[in-house]
Formats: sequence, structure tokens, C-alpha cells
Amino acid sequence: MSENQNKRIISDEEMAQQREYIYKIRKNIENRSVRPLAFVETYGCQQNSSDSEKIKGMLYDMGYDFCDKASEADFILYNTCAVRENAELRVFGNLGALKNIKRKREDVIIAVCGCMMQQEHIANKIKSRYKHVDLVFGTHALYRFPQLLYNVLEGKREFDIKNEDGSVFEDISYKRDDIPLAKIPIMYGCNNFCTYCIVPYVRGRERSRSAERILDEVRDVAKMGYKEVMLLGQNVNSYGNDLTDGLNFTQLLREVCRVDGIERVRFMTSHPKDISDELITAMAEEKKICNQLHLPVQSGSDRILKLMNRKYTSGQYLDIIKKVKTAIPDIVLTTDIIVGFPGETNEDFERTIDILKEVEYDTIFSFIYSKRVGTPAAEMEDCLTQEEKHKNFDRMLEVQNEISARKNKEYEGTVQKILVEGVSKNNEDTLTGRTEGGKVVNFAGDMSLLGQMVNVKITKAQTWSLFGEII
Ligand code: 5AD
Ligand code: SF4
Repeated sequence: MSENQNKRIISDEEMAQQREYIYKIRKNIENRSVRPLAFVETYGCQQNSSDSEKIKGMLYDMGYDFCDKASEADFILYNTCAVRENAELRVFGNLGALKNIKRKREDVIIAVCGCMMQQEHIANKIKSRYKHVDLVFGTHALYRFPQLLYNVLEGKREFDIKNEDGSVFEDISYKRDDIPLAKIPIMYGCNNFCTYCIVPYVRGRERSRSAERILDEVRDVAKMGYKEVMLLGQNVNSYGNDLTDGLNFTQLLREVCRVDGIERVRFMTSHPKDISDELITAMAEEKKICNQLHLPVQSGSDRILKLMNRKYTSGQYLDIIKKVKTAIPDIVLTTDIIVGFPGETNEDFERTIDILKEVEYDTIFSFIYSKRVGTPAAEMEDCLTQEEKHKNFDRMLEVQNEISARKNKEYEGTVQKILVEGVSKNNEDTLTGRTEGGKVVNFAGDMSLLGQMVNVKITKAQTWSLFGEII
């Protein structure tokens, strides 16, 4: 292991100390007649969901059980997202509403963590105006959660929002979301500094977990019965760049495919500037790597891509798409788009529409630009009004909906292998699962099939989902 790597890994001693706090809390909780309840709500991306699984693992080890309603909980935690303003506003709204709960039940503990808290102005606002919040910790303090909660249980108010480059810690138990999909973080942080994005400021520099640790975890979840893994990172294609003796991302993917019991391997997110021919070849060769690629383009205008600091042109992006489509003809492609980046004109926006028509994504995730304090784009001049941005946004969805519906229609009559994920939210007799490409399929079936792979004939396609029958 290189020296550089040692510095960023939280030492065994420090982790043992945290486990000691878990043990101390557990001892106190064991004296109570019933297990206390925790409510954990997660905003934002898969990385945040994965962090919440770790927090829930720690809470479980401390002796907490879980509930679905904040009003019934003894411990309430919001794990927040800072990528766009609307998610932040929701957190402030929900926190405001908790004042009533605290008034009625003084001993309830209210905590907020995650990306939003790693921004000083937000943490300060909570400190001064949300006095009923007992505990605030940023992404870098995640591993110190047991100590922080212990102090709060002892009557202190805790704010741990120190800005660090970030660390890697291991040996924490997860309370994972249900079978069949296991989320496995392979790296943390981001070095790209796209000019609109807050992530590099709140999640620190890129740092990879050791391949050994990742593969151990994949083997563990396979033994637990998970059939699908999602390898997570802000920019998975630069996995291993900070390790002197590790594997690169493609080599890691191939190793993950060797693990018995795992049938599907997905990953996200990829940055177009780092997609290698080696990766595309592996995706084509390895049966377990799903025929799905999420490749955020953000804009189709070269001028805007430059202002965004994305480090590719639309032409270079399209070249990658061409290679991918040639190597994997049934690839399911998705992307992220930002509409109304500062300086974007209607002319620039038309180039984004061009890209959508050229690539024909299966689905897009689109966002109206949201100003983030401290990022370079926050200082750039806007061209379009909010109204014009919304008009462009709506038109883009219209163009994309037609493409998505047409692409889904191609599935009608085909037989797809579906990994059963659960019961449909709207109908208890309907199961839901995904195709290899990640498309949602609903079909009649029994809950005993959860986590199993079944063959489903697609009978009807809609813009967002497919319907079928087990054969
Ligand atoms: N405003 C709007 N969308 C943003 N994203 C990131 N930062 C912003 C912002 N400031 C989008 C990008 C990214 C996705 C996760 O969120 O499209 O790929
Ligand atoms: Fe944000 Fe860009 Fe990093 Fe993605 S690659 S997290 S958009 S800075």
C-alpha cells in the first residue's frame, strides 16, 4: 500500500474507538424496556443512499429499530443533497415542521447530515435559526457519527462540519436496502470541478477504495443472496488513479464479474472524458455487465460545454456513443441534461435538442440550472429568463418523450430476463423488476419470486415503463 493511501484511510484504532461509542450507546439502550426507533430520510443520489445504509448499520448496532414516520421516531435524521436548490428547500421545510414534534417530545433527537451540511452558510443557518436541531455533521464526519450521537445523548449540541479532502473508512456494518440490488461504493469525491457543480466542494477529492475491500464486499453480498451489484462513484472511470498498486476500473469490473452468485453488474456515473476503449470492450465481452450506460452529456453546445468545464466537445461525445452502439448494439443509453446554464442562448439549446435526436437516449434526467454558492458558474451572467428556460425545458421533454415511447415500443413482443425487485407501488398483485438494460417492467406474479430471475414477454409499452407476462 502506498504512503499516500495510508494517509487517507481512517486507521483501525480510530474505527475501534468509534465502535467503542457504538458499544457504549448500546449498553445504555439495553437498559430501556423497548428498543428506540430511528427514522432516516435520504435525499439525492445513490451515493447518499449508500451512506444512509452505513448510518442505519451503525444505528442498528447501537440498538435502534427503524420506523417509517418521523412522528413516531426517537431519532430523526435527514441525509441531505446539495446538488440543486429545490432539494435544499424541502429539507428546510421538513426541519421547520419538526419543531412541533420537539415541542411535544423534548427528548427526541433531530439530526441532519450529508452534502448540504458540508456548506458553511447552510450549517450556520441551522445553528442560529433551527435551534431544535441537535446534531449536524457533514459528509467527512460520517465515520464519527457514533461519537457525535453519544455526545448528543449526553446532552451536548454537536456540529461537525470540518472541510477536509476526504477519507476512506472500512469495517462498518451496513443495513442494506432489500434484495436483489446491492450498492457498492468503489470511490468517493470528485476532481472534475464542472463549473455548475457543488459536489467537489462537499465530497472532497477523488479517493478509491482498495480492490480487495470492494471484492470482499461483492462476495459478501453474493452470499447474502444479492444477484445484482451497482458500483458507485461520481466518476467511476477514474477509479484507481489514486492507487499506486491497484486495478483500473475495467480490471475491477472484470474481477467483479468473476464473483459467483452475482448475475448483473451495473455502474454509475461515468464521465465521457474518461471512457476508454478497454471499458467498451469489457462491456461487450462480459455477460454479467449490463447493457446499460448512463453517460451525462449536460449540453449539446460546444460553447456551453467549455463554460461548464466538461473537457469534451459534442463531436467527441458522439464518437464515444458511436463506438458504444457498434460494440453493444442493444445498449440502453441514458443521460443528464442541464437547461438554462448561465450564458445559454436559444441557439445553444437547439444543439442540445440535436444531441437528443442524434443519440436517441432511452431516458434522460433533465434539470433546470440551479445556482450553487461558491461554484464558478454562480458568478456567470444569465442570458435567458426563467420563463424562457422553462419553455425550453418543456419542449425538450416533448422531444424526448416521443423518443422514449418509440424506443420502448420496440420491446413489445420480445422476451426479457427480469430480476424481480418487489411489489409495484400502485398494485399489490403486480411485481416489478428491471430488464438487463434497466427498464422497469410490471407483471402479475407472486412475491415468492422476489430476487429471482424470470422470463417476461412484453405485452405493452408506455413512455416510462413496460408491462408483460411471465412465460
Ligand atoms: N443545477 C442543475 N443541475 C445540476 N446538476 C449538477 N449540478 C447542477 C446544478 N447546479 C445535475 C447534472 C448532474 C446531475 C447529477 O445533476 O446534470 O449530472
Ligand atoms: Fe459534479 Fe462534474 Fe464531478 Fe459529476 S463530474 S460530480 S457533475 S463536478
